[in-house]
Amino acid sequence: MRKAISTISSLLIVILVLSSCMKREQSPGYEYMPDMYRSPAIEAYVDYGEIRDTIREELNLSLSARKPAEGTVPRSENILNDLPYTIPNTQEGYALAGEVVKSPFPQNEEYIEMGKGIYTNFCVQCHGAEGQGNGPVVEKGGHPAPNAYNSPNLKELPEGKMFHTLTYGKGAMGSHASQLTKVERWKVIAYVKHLQKLGEEGEEESDGAEKIKG
Ligand code: HEC
Repeated sequence: MRKAISTISSLLIVILVLSSCMKREQSPGYEYMPDMYRSPAIEAYVDYGEIRDTIREELNLSLSARKPAEGTVPRSENILNDLPYTIPNTQEGYALAGEVVKSPFPQNEEYIEMGKGIYTNFCVQCHGAEGQGNGPVVEKGGHPAPNAYNSPNLKELPEGKMFHTLTYGKGAMGSHASQLTKVERWKVIAYVKHLQKLGEEGEEESDGAEKIKG
């Protein structure tokens, strides 16, 4: 009995060893789970048309990513970023922006604070920490100086014109449309508006002081 078992098992081993030998050297031999070695090549955004359903059934696949329907608008985390800015980059466009383009956000501490962060990263090098047009790049003579935000030229500059300038650029200032989303542009404008008022309280105080003196 024992002999029979050992004969059968050695026979089995021989069969197993032989069955792993293949004529072609490149062949991996019998594959137990071929799907694990080779995943079906379904490309994204390809419409496989009629054969699609057959492929699906055969390979038990769900569909690959499909092209969105025509006219689909991408959604980012804020819809305001997705709405197009339709005013053209012209003198008339600039004037129009000053009249009709308004910030969707309130001018409060929260937005001023958020805008300050953006200002520190993107604007301070030219406009200076207090918006006096004396940033380090200007001080070192590397760039023409912009006017101070609270100078007579810019004190009354409407926010719509600021948005227009940030979007398209103006004179020596480049467009910031690729660096800042529309929401970020409005936030930084909140801070610029805050800087436009710089010195106002001081003036009132000194006015008051003069009045008292007088
Ligand atoms: C490379 C230097 C530089 C950087 C960076 C820069 N600016 Fe300017 N900015 C200028 C110059 C120069 C002008 C004057 C442009 C002109 O009127 O010809 C200007 C003008 C402006 C004006 C007045 C626009 C108008 O319509 O008259 C505003 C507002 C302004 N910048 C805001 C910003 C903000 C906000 C940032 C950061 C997001 C920024 N700038 C970044 C150089 C810069």
